[in-house]
Amino acid sequence: MKCSGRGAVAPLPLLFTLLFTAAFRVCRSDFPRIGRRAPAAPPRGSVILPLSGNVYPLGYYSVSLNVGRPAKVYELDVDTGSDLTWLQCDAPCTGCTKPRDQLYKPKNNLVHCEDPLCSAISISGTEPCKNPDDQCDYEVEYADKGSFLGVLVYDYFAFQLTNNTRLSPRLTFGCSYNLDTPSPTAPPPTAGILGLGNGKASIITQLYRLGMIRNVLGHCLSTKGGGFLFFGDDPIPSSNVLWVPMSPTLLAKHYASGPAELLNRQKPGNVKGLQVIFDSGSSYTYFNSKAYGAILNQLTGDLNGKPLKNATGEKSLPVCWKGTKPFNSVNDVNAQFKPLVLSFANNVEYKIPPEAYLIVTKGGNVCLGILNGTEVGLADFNIIGDISMQSKMVIYDNERQQIGWVSADCSHLPNWASQAGEEADYPYHEDL
Ligand SMILES: *[C@@H]1O[C@H](CO)[C@@H](O)[C@H](O)[C@H]1NC(C)=O
Ligand SMILES: *[C@@H]1O[C@H](CO)[C@@H](O)[C@H](O)[C@H]1NC(C)=O
Ligand SMILES: *[C@@H]1O[C@H](CO)[C@@H](O)[C@H](O)[C@H]1NC(C)=O
Repeated sequence: MKCSGRGAVAPLPLLFTLLFTAAFRVCRSDFPRIGRRAPAAPPRGSVILPLSGNVYPLGYYSVSLNVGRPAKVYELDVDTGSDLTWLQCDAPCTGCTKPRDQLYKPKNNLVHCEDPLCSAISISGTEPCKNPDDQCDYEVEYADKGSFLGVLVYDYFAFQLTNNTRLSPRLTFGCSYNLDTPSPTAPPPTAGILGLGNGKASIITQLYRLGMIRNVLGHCLSTKGGGFLFFGDDPIPSSNVLWVPMSPTLLAKHYASGPAELLNRQKPGNVKGLQVIFDSGSSYTYFNSKAYGAILNQLTGDLNGKPLKNATGEKSLPVCWKGTKPFNSVNDVNAQFKPLVLSFANNVEYKIPPEAYLIVTKGGNVCLGILNGTEVGLADFNIIGDISMQSKMVIYDNERQQIGWVSADCSHLPNWASQAGEEADYPYHEDL
């Protein structure tokens, strides 16, 4: 999004939670069935990737990946709320936001529609083949109503593992050549999306099925911007991680847990039964109308008698306050606010400190980075977005079907990453 530098206009939140995907023309393919292969040996490696981006003003965290041979670098928005990874595609493209030389150009590497990953991204998974060699077209639509047409392709992604091996697995992803982002939806600011949900087509699932890593991923988003993303379990601390079971979700392919209760100043309140989705593709946090209303009440109560006054909201951030003089950062104001607390089963708490729900805008007001999900059509879904995952390592363990978190300083990469890069350049592993 090109919103930085546009004065006091708040960026529109990105919300790349998958609502819907469809793949058409499910047909024959002679292409290896990546999706069905089981891990060959107990996987050992992990991948640690530095992140860029921030919640405000950019609204996303992104990772740079090397794709293709020769490799080109693409910046991808990290999205644990959807499965399909895609790049803006020179097919040619309508609605692409990147210059043509930064688009991905497919070259005889189309995935045929019979491939299991083609049916994995289709909603019914049962559309019949019309022709044996048909390509696998898809349409994805996200919760913010952006919709993208494209075609599935395969190519090599280069990764450096923490055990000092370099691997170039061949992965399936989308080449999106028709990007439709009706106003007021923000057009995609990055070259694409890195889909890390738990469905078959997800990059994490593909790497796991190739035997490269354990089926675990996580991220650590820094309040200063940046942070890191990891695949595999090496960076996970051996203690202090709080774990909750993943829910079998209402909409498949989301990392959700619950029921959770919104505590009212550390005590039980009357907002219970919340199903919560952890979604790095969403800039802000969304609660259903009831929880959102309770949060507004708590904050209004906490601010009673404090020198903060209601201020006119900004586009996409309707609830704001101003101080006696403009704030420079959340640090200037967070002492006036209290943490919000979600309590999961067995009293496992997810604490959201003020810096994980407040935004200080360019105009110096402080705004609530939690939004009314009912208003944007999320019905009863509650989404913990980037803002509320900052300064925590958030872990999605698909093998043990659990989600974990632990407070962390996300501004430094874990040690492995700094040791990497010294080793011999291993040859590409063609058949991974
Ligand atoms: C590192 O891990 C990868 C994938 O798990 C494996 O293929 C490779 O052999 C390992 N390398 C070493 C040096 O252990
Ligand atoms: C949230 O949005 C819904 C739908 O627009 C609205 O009816 C409800 O009053 C809002 N809730 C709060 C607490 O503002
Ligand atoms: C300030 O905003 C809150 C939340 O939007 C609202 O409940 C409250 O009534 C407002 N206070 C004043 C003095 O307008």
